[in-house]
Amino acid sequence: MTSRWRVLKFGGSSVSTPEQWQTILQQVTDNIHQGYRVLLVHSACYGLTNALEEKIKTGHSVYKSIEQRLNTLAQDFAVSIDVFTEDLQQLHQLCELSELNNYQQAELLSWGERITHRLIINHINKTQEAHSLNPKDWLTTTVDDHRNPHSRVLSAKCQVQNNPQLQDKLQHQFYVMPGFFAADESGRTVLLGRSGSDTSAAYMAVLLNAERIEIWTDVDGIFSANPHQIPEAKLLLRLSYQEAREIAASGGTVIHPRSILPAEQNNIPIYIKNSLRPEAPGTILKHEFSPKKPRVSAVNTRHQVTLVSMESVNMWHQAGFISDLFAVYKDLGLSVDLISTAQTNVTISLDAADNVLTPYILAKLKDQLAPLCDVTIIANCSAVTLVGYRIRAMADTIASVVATFADQRIYITTQSTNDLNQTFVVDEDQADKLARALHEVLITRLPERDDFGPSWADLVARRSKTKTITQTWWQQNRQQLLDLAQQHSPCYVYHLDTISRQIDKLKSLTAVDRFFYAMKANSQPDVLSRIYQQGIGLETVSPGEIRRCLEIMPKSDVATLLFTPNFAPIEEYQLALQQGITTTIDNPSLLYLHPHVFQNQSVILRLDPGHGSGHHRYVRTAGEQSKFGIPESELPKLATWCQQQNIHICGLHAHTGSGILDHQNWQRIAHFLARGLRYFTDVRIINVGGGLGIKENPGDTGLNFSALNKSLLEFKKQYPSIELWMEPGRFLVAHSGVLLAKVTQTKLKGNQGYIGLETGMNSLIRPALYGAWHNIVNLSRLDAVCNYTANIVGPMCESGDILGIDRPMPDTQAGDVVLIANTGAYGATMASRYNLREPAQELIFRA
Ligand code: LLP
Repeated sequence: MTSRWRVLKFGGSSVSTPEQWQTILQQVTDNIHQGYRVLLVHSACYGLTNALEEKIKTGHSVYKSIEQRLNTLAQDFAVSIDVFTEDLQQLHQLCELSELNNYQQAELLSWGERITHRLIINHINKTQEAHSLNPKDWLTTTVDDHRNPHSRVLSAKCQVQNNPQLQDKLQHQFYVMPGFFAADESGRTVLLGRSGSDTSAAYMAVLLNAERIEIWTDVDGIFSANPHQIPEAKLLLRLSYQEAREIAASGGTVIHPRSILPAEQNNIPIYIKNSLRPEAPGTILKHEFSPKKPRVSAVNTRHQVTLVSMESVNMWHQAGFISDLFAVYKDLGLSVDLISTAQTNVTISLDAADNVLTPYILAKLKDQLAPLCDVTIIANCSAVTLVGYRIRAMADTIASVVATFADQRIYITTQSTNDLNQTFVVDEDQADKLARALHEVLITRLPERDDFGPSWADLVARRSKTKTITQTWWQQNRQQLLDLAQQHSPCYVYHLDTISRQIDKLKSLTAVDRFFYAMKANSQPDVLSRIYQQGIGLETVSPGEIRRCLEIMPKSDVATLLFTPNFAPIEEYQLALQQGITTTIDNPSLLYLHPHVFQNQSVILRLDPGHGSGHHRYVRTAGEQSKFGIPESELPKLATWCQQQNIHICGLHAHTGSGILDHQNWQRIAHFLARGLRYFTDVRIINVGGGLGIKENPGDTGLNFSALNKSLLEFKKQYPSIELWMEPGRFLVAHSGVLLAKVTQTKLKGNQGYIGLETGMNSLIRPALYGAWHNIVNLSRLDAVCNYTANIVGPMCESGDILGIDRPMPDTQAGDVVLIANTGAYGATMASRYNLREPAQELIFRA
């Protein structure tokens, strides 16, 4: 039998359905036909590890929801649930423990890989011979690992080398092995850290002296930036190991940095491939691809960085001072990322991905550092990193970009001595802009390199050409819109049939019993009527919104309204309850201070699930830093109070943020809220809020509706008597609206083009406030070639009055009509009369 091995690793998003396994097994067969033996390393099915982590984060049992998920998986793969009896028993035991030590955590977290392994071995063996490998027989951790016990167990390392004796034990052609876990010297389960399955694959490739490692994911390869942030990001076809390591460590998520080193040391090429498009080239990492000339290959951004600035005159020339400072970090188990030092100041960064940065830990850090220095903690920063080769040689070009950020704070700049990376730490809301500017100058505008593949935007455009292209409503009705603009611009125009289509899509979520439209997204009366007439209730947050609803619906229908105010005067609650509107309370002090207002009433409580999500930090509405919701710790006291005061709690609600594309979000909220049922036994409604994200860029995949529905159906199965409510805003209206405005003037300043419109942030504040991206086209010259880039700006006296940065545009003249797409949500409703300029009026498109 051949001794030529290939190791193929498939991640969680590629192994979760039998259809995906057809593709995987095809790859295996192809490799075997080419004369290779195959070891296939797999992760846990999608969502399992996150669900298991929930137990560790919250301490609550996750057994029921995971059992449910396993049942569904077993059904999907046509494998009897009975084969998992022992696994379920073990999970049950672990879930019952109130606190788990490091080894128990390792057992729990590796459970997902183990049951996935059992599932797929049973599945594959129905048609093909596959042999199972137990990683604990092969991968043993390093004894001389001097890191703390937590890291040694949960982020263990192994020393591996080519081992012909082990290879002799393997007599078959095709083996399957779960990734992520290994054994310590006593045979106990340990984990190989986050994304540890990549590392398992790399270790096994070394042991087997494999000819290559293939990492199969659901993206095309490594890009020169995050393509969702910078659509012009280029596919990197060939990379050196060092560059790939730096990219992975500075925010790239395609491959884990730790998995690259063993391959690099043993000269094993890594191929990164897309399991959705096996024929695409992907990215290859090899020694031969080490660069010879200075270059920047990627611009990465990491958010949620916290800076600690330590200031003291004592540190100057004092031996051991820094060591005293750093001993505090070691004590608190905090891993330091970047360091910058000056005579009297040391500033370091802490990355939330490596550290648990609760206010409690940060306060403790401040206390313990206080005797040594003055401490300032700066939260909500981001690190923008350039990765390449001999970056210092490009200092001039980099400086020209950074100079344009002179009015923003760049807190630290670090440059590695190996000259492979340079990092800037800035405020979180500046990071994307800085990254875009650096990418533009250092990658997009430079001459083509043969190791660059197509840009992400090109790939998307090519793919959509191979599908039937459905034009947007505004492309189909271009001439009518131009006519409307001639008379009425600046104006928002809404297409009601697009709203109806979105409603139909929403109704495909059969798990949801009732929908309410969050009218803060768009409260134009015809829009509201259309939504209401299609059987969707309305969610309001102010007396003004309630009045607007009562203008378009009969008063007798108030039961279809929700009122979800926040820090509003008590009189507003009183008024809503008197009108019979279902009201949501998000502050316990209202009930403590004004029990008489709520006595004998039924209300919903808005809870805070602890951490929020969404497209920008201003729209994340959960967690300690957000003003919304009641913390879970308050519930026992609140429940007793409500009972004493005869305040009926009929429902529990949470809304974690806006623009969310992770379909698991709402199931997580539902399970979180279900934990509240133990305190409020009369609850019959669980409202999982809104926040459903939309496709912003032409090539976005959008929210996976069938997976979302499936996850909510699983919840409903577990809680059949609960009514599930949802209250989306953006999803129903965003695509239905466009903003039309005429060009007033154009300008060129140096290399920077500007196209000025008759309206700006007074009509659409989202780009200025959140850095939001809206597609912008010159509607008058829709088919003309875009031959330059320009900033699209408004007429307001404010530098932030920008609607789009560096947008490709055709030659544009004053008087042309510009269209800004997807502005049906949070456009007109957030408009203002700043500079006493009236915002765009709202019109309904009538064909
Ligand atoms: N329910 C509650 C309690 C909310 O606070 C919100 C939005 C929604 C539902 C609807 O969320 P949606 O499905 O539209 O994401 N101005 C920001 C969005 C702020 C959302 C505030 N709350 C933007 O332009 O992106």
